[in-house]
Amino acid sequence: MADESAYLDRILTIELGRCTEAAAVAASTMIGRGDKEGADQAAVTALRAAFNKLDIDGTIVIGEGERDEAPMLYIGEKVGRGGPKIDIALDPLEGTTLTAKAMQNALAVVAMATGGSLLHSPDVYMDKIACGPGYPDGVIDLDAPVRENIENLAKAKGVKPSEITLCVLDRERHQSIIDSARSVDARVFLIPDGDVAGVFHTTEAHTGIDMYVGQGGAPEGVLAAAALRCVGGQMQSRLVFRNDDERARAERSGITDLSRKYDLHDMASGDVMFAATGVTPGSMLRGVQWQGDVVKTQTVVMRSKTGTVRYIDAVSNASSYDLGDG
Ligand code: FBP
Repeated sequence: MADESAYLDRILTIELGRCTEAAAVAASTMIGRGDKEGADQAAVTALRAAFNKLDIDGTIVIGEGERDEAPMLYIGEKVGRGGPKIDIALDPLEGTTLTAKAMQNALAVVAMATGGSLLHSPDVYMDKIACGPGYPDGVIDLDAPVRENIENLAKAKGVKPSEITLCVLDRERHQSIIDSARSVDARVFLIPDGDVAGVFHTTEAHTGIDMYVGQGGAPEGVLAAAALRCVGGQMQSRLVFRNDDERARAERSGITDLSRKYDLHDMASGDVMFAATGVTPGSMLRGVQWQGDVVKTQTVVMRSKTGTVRYIDAVSNASSYDLGDG
């Protein structure tokens, strides 16, 4: 389609924000209710309904799971009413536990790109390293020791290693990363969940976070890569397989080199769009706020073609969202 990119530019980026808004509002009805599956389900149902109002021929490439394990938004599911061919990566609720426990930084997140541009990653773990924009290429390297990455980033930033802050998921498996960082006096900002926001924080000076390191979900890695493609920054990753079933998942996704090291453009190439809406309050976005029948949301939408980042504050009637029984 000749004007496909114009269509994407003018309409779809904003529409994408409407989709994450719908997912976030639905998930917000479950904040603090101790039911992470219920919160996820509310977001999934709302996101799927929102996608099916779009004039796209969308294919979910990163979704809620494989067809036999996820009834909605499964990998390979077609969404939309017809139009340009679009690949979709999504996490209707990034931070299910954060939502269930009313903790900060839960998001509804979606990335879209022209067909074939997003890594069709299976739902396995991924080793990740990322930093924000403005550094020389190769300043971070997934295969270099953590200490060396900190020293190189500090040198490029013109500061001491003790002035570098790493964001790391608070997991036992990351103890050696934490120990290495502290051995050069770097600060470690531990997060309980939510590494899409963790990676994105490296691009925002006000967070004070310089680098993201550690192992998290591979789908979240691709979503974070899509965001970095829009705002700049560096990221490398490698899939991590714990058993034959996970290796088989990768093969079904078309991945042949299981130990491949990916860079940003391997995970998200072409014209990429990214949208996220805050569910709970966070350092990246405000959470959903309810005032009677009025609901307020904050969404960020961005696209790689221009690097434009738009924050959208929406004030809507709750009746404009189909919240089902949630
Ligand atoms: P959920 O949205 O499924 O709760 O995932 C949150 C998350 O923290 C991701 O941001 C991260 O990539 C992954 O879980 C880490 O997995 P694990 O909790 O197994 O260490």
